Parts: sequence; C-alpha cells; structure tokens
Amino acid sequence: MRLKFLAAPFLIGSIILGGCSASNSHKNEHGMMDHSTMNMENDHASHTNPIALNNSTGQNEIALPSIIEPQNGLVNITAQQGETEIFDGFQTMTYGYNGSFLGPVIKIKSGENVTFRTKNDLLEPTTFHWHGLDIPGDGDGGPHQILKQGQSVDVNFTVNQGASTLWFHPHPEGATAEQVYKGLAGLIYIEDDNSLKLNLPNDYGKNDFPLVFQDRHFTEEKQFDYNAVQNADGTIGNTLLVNGTFNPKLTVGRERIRLRLLNSSNARNYTFKLNTGDAFQQIATDGGFLNKSIELNEITLTPGERAEIIIDFSKFDAESDVALVNEENIRLLPFKIEHPKSSSTAIAEVLNDYVVTEEEKSLPVTKQLELFGMGKMVTINNQQFDMHRIDFTQKLGETEIWEVYNKPDTMGGMIHPFHIHGTQFKVVSIDGEEPAASLQGWKDTISIEPNQTVKLAVKFNNKGIYMFHCHLLEHEENGMMGQVEVN
Ligand code: C2O
Ligand code: CU
Repeated sequence: MRLKFLAAPFLIGSIILGGCSASNSHKNEHGMMDHSTMNMENDHASHTNPIALNNSTGQNEIALPSIIEPQNGLVNITAQQGETEIFDGFQTMTYGYNGSFLGPVIKIKSGENVTFRTKNDLLEPTTFHWHGLDIPGDGDGGPHQILKQGQSVDVNFTVNQGASTLWFHPHPEGATAEQVYKGLAGLIYIEDDNSLKLNLPNDYGKNDFPLVFQDRHFTEEKQFDYNAVQNADGTIGNTLLVNGTFNPKLTVGRERIRLRLLNSSNARNYTFKLNTGDAFQQIATDGGFLNKSIELNEITLTPGERAEIIIDFSKFDAESDVALVNEENIRLLPFKIEHPKSSSTAIAEVLNDYVVTEEEKSLPVTKQLELFGMGKMVTINNQQFDMHRIDFTQKLGETEIWEVYNKPDTMGGMIHPFHIHGTQFKVVSIDGEEPAASLQGWKDTISIEPNQTVKLAVKFNNKGIYMFHCHLLEHEENGMMGQVEVN
C-alpha cells in the first residue's frame, strides 16, 4: 500500500537528485557510485529513501551527549561553531550547542521552573526552538524569535507536561534546514514522579541511551556542503551518523536496554528493526509513555518523531550478531554485547493514563488543513508560509479537532511529517479508524501518507503564536508552514 503510493514521486525525486549531484560524483564507503542505488531497476533502492545508507562497520563506540541539569533553575545553552573529528584525521566544520557538534541532553523535571539562557555565538542569526515543549509562544523559538550574532535571551517557563523525550533545534526562516544539517540538534528529557517510580531502565549510558539518527553527505575533504546536496524534496545523504558518530556501535549488557530514538534527519525516514528478527517493546511516543508497552517487529519514524523502545538482550550473548537495521537491512547500529547477564525487572504493566475521551471523539472538525505539492510548490490550504499572516486562531485551553489531509498529486504524493509547536496532541483517527497502538499516546509530529486524513485533538496550554508545518525541513523552508495564534 505504502510503496504503491510512493513509488512514482520518489523515483522522480531520485532522478532530480541524480541529476544535480552528478557533478559531485561522491563515492560511498564501498567505493561504489551513489547513483547505482538510484537506478530504477535496482530492487534494493528504497522508494522512500532513494540514496542508500552505508552499513555501519561498528568501528567506533557511539558518542553520548553530556547531560545538563538546571543549576538554581538556570541552564546555559549556546549555539556555536567548531571543528569535529567525525572521520579519523579530518576536522569537519560543524555547529553544536555547548560544544562543536550536536547538543547535550537537557534534563528537567515536571513542575519545576526553568530558565534556558540561550546565546548565539554563531556568525549568523538563529533561534532556539524546543520541539514538543508546552511553552508560551514568545519562548517557543519559532522564526519570530531571532537571536542575532552575540545575542543572549532568557526563556523562562514551568515544565507543564509528563515524562518524555523531546528535542531542540534552530528555526530561523530560510536557514533551519541548513543549520540542523550542520549539527544543531539536542535532546530534552522530562522526568516526573511516574517515570521515576516505574522502574524502567534509566541509568544513562548504561541501560538508557539516546540515539540521534542523521544522514549526511560529506565532500571528499569530509566537510558538509549543504548547498551542493540540497534538494527541494528533502536533503538525503549516504552517510549515517548516530549521535554524530560514523560507523557506530553500542556496547550493552545482557539486560533490558532502553533506546530513545530520535529521527532528526532533514528528510530521511527510518524503519527500525533488529537484524535477528526479534521483537522489541515500544514504551513511549513523542510526548510520553504509552499506557502499556507494545510488542513490535519494526517501527517507522519520520523526521521530528521519537519513540522509546526496550530491547531485551538477556537472550543474546557475546557471540550474537545483533544490530539495529533499517527497511533495507542496512546496519545502522551494531551492538556489542559484553557484560555478564544481569537481572532486570520486567516492564511495568501500566505506564501511563493517556486517553482519547468520548467527548474528544465526538467533537466536530473546526480546523481543516490540506497539505499539497512537492519541491518548491508545497502548500498548506493553497498558501505558502508568510510570517506576517496568522492562519488560524484558537482559544487557550480549548480542545479543537484539526483535520489534516495529505492531498496526492498526479504522481502520487509524498509522506509529510506534520508537526505542531507548543503542545502535544492526540491522534483521534486516521482515515476514520482508530490509530495503531503505537500512535495511542502523546504526539507532536505525525507521519501522514498521501491521501490520508488524520484527526488530531489539539489543545494549547499557553498563549502566543505557534508554527505548524511539515517536518521534512526543506518542505518547511519552501513554505509548507502556517501559524496559529492562541489567545
Ligand atoms: Cu522540530 Cu518547527 O520544528
Ligand atoms: Cu512535506
């Protein structure tokens, strides 16, 4: 079903990609031309991801972001540029938060009052957007909240949502995709009383790991050249970095391991599976725990989405070949199983109390959005983003049903990961049906396939102007974005 819809447009997409990158003739790690994977006859070419990724050799232990917590309520976050040795012997020019590449994990607690002291040490304007955070509009870090070079701004708020894995990244109009591409992305962990008492793996770096997935294209000098590889339907690369590490492996014990997956790629989708075919448990969506863990063989994340999963490594041993792979069986992250078996407690029966109420199910649709187009011609309700136009208004604290339709074009259309700022929403239905179990939890980004209609119950707990957009970052840049004012 999915492949049938997507085949046509993505093959067109690959022709365009092939055309514009022909002059670069990058070779992949095996010395093969990338273009071979874009061949229409090649069964292994993914329709959704026309450029194949490298297989991780597992040569490098994965980097772990540092954790920062508020000191007297204050967290310092500086956007800066630097150099990073991603490849042995090469310094890549990169962007990062509080470091040269990517960002830390900011750990905050539900109920606490926090100030993020943001500072822009880049040589260009940026903003600090907290993806998934329930926060007043003037602190949300959308395109209106530009920090010029050298500027510092305090963002104060009270953490008003449950345990979850969120993230942060820049959002300046016209430069979001490129700044994320160069390395501006960090994580936010929210903890609450529930998450602390659940007895889930939460020993950071031991049985609880963040995994930030990004695909990139490097020049022969191992630099980013965003403009050279930029594609209007999504910039995709052949080189996978996980937490910024090339050819990563993750060393784990023979116990239950919690992985917090973030797709912060500009455009690539990932379907995560184990190479052994074993199942794993999903415990959380974008914005919090599922009510109970669900067993899955694979999970797909489009850009912006997160999921937390638990893999039970107790059945494997040091000789087992276990890796996280994608839909093409590319090895994204091999595991090295090392430590002696340790007994880890079973996942609790009840993790959360999420519910879509009967009232929410029976609310009328009050906002309709139609996502349409490709490349530079992407629109929402036939309009492109205009910073000076408010597209919708909504009352503070009132739940409205947003109906979002992905209108196909003559070539089929594309998946659009639809994101709303400043809140977590509930998925009420997909094409009139109850959503799959793995979408029955708080979400801030939802993958919408061509010709699909999703109904979302959306409530804002703060006032201000918020963006909603396609999280395929080049679509967002090209105008597939609008604004809702909450008052
Ligand atoms: Cu991840 Cu407009 O955001
Ligand atoms: Cu899109």
